[in-house]
Amino acid sequence: MGSGSNRRALKDGNFITLEGGEGSGKTTQTQLLHDSLISAGIETIITREPGGTPQSEEIRSLLVSGESKRWEPLTESLLHFASRNEHLVKVILPTLQAGKWVICDRFFDSTMAYQGYAMNVDRQKIGALAKMTMGKFAPDLTLILDIPESKGLVREEGLSSEDRYNKMGASFHKKVRMAFREIASQEPERCKIIDASKGIQEVHNSIWLQVKAKFNL
Ligand code: TMP
Repeated sequence: MGSGSNRRALKDGNFITLEGGEGSGKTTQTQLLHDSLISAGIETIITREPGGTPQSEEIRSLLVSGESKRWEPLTESLLHFASRNEHLVKVILPTLQAGKWVICDRFFDSTMAYQGYAMNVDRQKIGALAKMTMGKFAPDLTLILDIPESKGLVREEGLSSEDRYNKMGASFHKKVRMAFREIASQEPERCKIIDASKGIQEVHNSIWLQVKAKFNL
């Protein structure tokens, strides 16, 4: 595998990420988007972060369970990048290079939003880690599912033992929401905001419109 800086040049399929706060419906929407792309005749896989390889899933379990203050914020950022590097090298890049599309439930923007904006890790450090591991590689399209944090947290309540981030409180999740909006305003070509407070089918329709427009489907 080449160094980070030439990773982008090696890719062939398209890379779509879904981002958003807790309970924004990303996982359901990832599945629906996958179904639509397959119906359109496009070979596509679904994956997620943190996770996506056996090794990255091990790192995931360190991140999503236990006490909210379990990690120093910079350590936590490094763990997300460690997980991402495995995932990028072993799954995302080879799949794109094989000409397939990849839909990823969360990616780099989550590190910027959660660790950078909401946990106050120096955003330049996060940018430097991204450059080191990803070079110029970036999603072709990022769909940011936007929902008021109070609504999203209620949707998630008691759903899983992976609740470390849910325990971080409403003001933390408000910062995450604002961070995703800020990221979208900085990169309007790549990032599209989707109103995720609507019904499942309506949200899917908005996502599908964006995907069709971006890739001329
Ligand atoms: P999930 O519940 O969407 O699978 O994501 C697990 C949690 O990980 C979620 O609460 C957000 C958090 N997260 C970060 O804090 N930074 C990251 O870089 C990623 C990918 C996820």
